[in-house]
Amino acid sequence: TQNTNFNIAVIPGDGIGKPVIEQGIRVLEKVAGQLGISFDWEHFDWSCEHFHKTGKMMPEDGLEQLKRHNAIYLGAVGYPGVPDHVSLWGLLIPIRRVFQQYACIRPVRLFEGVPSPLAGVGPGDVDFVVVRENNEGEYSEIGGRIFQGTDAEVVSQQTLFSKKGVDRILHYAFDLASRRKGKLTSATKSNGIMHTMPFWDERFAILAKKYPQVQTNQFHIDILTAHFVQHPQWFDVVVGSNLFGDILSDLGPAVAGTIGIAASANINPEGQFPSMFEPVHGSAPDIAGKGIANPIGAIWAGAMMLEHLGFEEGHDVILGAIERVVKHQSGKTRDMGGTATTLECANAILDEI
Ligand code: NAI
Ligand code: MG
Repeated sequence: TQNTNFNIAVIPGDGIGKPVIEQGIRVLEKVAGQLGISFDWEHFDWSCEHFHKTGKMMPEDGLEQLKRHNAIYLGAVGYPGVPDHVSLWGLLIPIRRVFQQYACIRPVRLFEGVPSPLAGVGPGDVDFVVVRENNEGEYSEIGGRIFQGTDAEVVSQQTLFSKKGVDRILHYAFDLASRRKGKLTSATKSNGIMHTMPFWDERFAILAKKYPQVQTNQFHIDILTAHFVQHPQWFDVVVGSNLFGDILSDLGPAVAGTIGIAASANINPEGQFPSMFEPVHGSAPDIAGKGIANPIGAIWAGAMMLEHLGFEEGHDVILGAIERVVKHQSGKTRDMGGTATTLECANAILDEI
């Protein structure tokens, strides 16, 4: 029988992370009621504020505490006063790595009613998913710095691609493409980066043979970014390394109007560890505390969490409500060209549900 009670670890984090997660929880509570399931939310105040008080982004046994939850729901971490690499490496990256959340899934859709910065592009033209490798690649701790502060200063940073790591993310992307429109694009740069990227291409070509139903192509990252802008209609699933996936998954939502609606899932596909769901955006210090942050990225991330827990219909109910709300001026926050507050936007979505 299907589990109907879920323990969720909530890490609102910094800045606008707090209000958007609060609204996401309200939406999930309402849908849970309709589905006949329930959530136990356990809040963790791990953040830059926590860092100021304790010198750590999370306690020593933080990962142990998170491990027993069914999923993690996160707002955003990072705030002026704490260097971004400290906040990121002190919390988000350990969670993604130790919990083997190697597949980062970021859907990109242009909704009717949300203005796109691209001329002549309408709803239906932009509907794809970026699959980002989330555990290795360019984001590695291996490297160093010598002769610091002198004219001879040298720094180096190592990129690591393992066969296991590359294959498992490619498999995930091929599987996802099989369930969608059957098209998979690989982001590469095998002309300039002469070891890791040809290896990535090689594995992509080998795995493609196992998925004859998926139509494949690949582009170097430079021209691929141009195609995202000029031909967003071409894409269904786009797979990239940690760095390329990171870049593409901000560019994607930007062509779909605003990063404020973009959602992200950090998935441990084997289900050995909890997966983590978060909006793509950061803590937005420039608008924090003003009550105007767009809650849709967090709400959509909540929908992805429901889907991951086995409730696809709950996901679809939330997406449908978002779709209907953004069609009208009244529920839209400023970044979508409206005037609604965080609360008004979330209330409009709750009404639709
Ligand atoms: P950001 O995403 O916080 O903000 C970029 C721009 O988009 C800002 O002008 C902001 O006002 C706007 N924006 C973002 N989310 C919005 C929303 N929901 N509604 C309306 N407008 C929104 O990225 P930024 O400024 O580069 O980073 C700020 C802090 O957040 C940094 O400390 C950074 O490290 C951290 N960060 C954390 C992330 C995470 O926790 N996953 C992801 C990205 C950044
Ligand atoms: Mg990013």
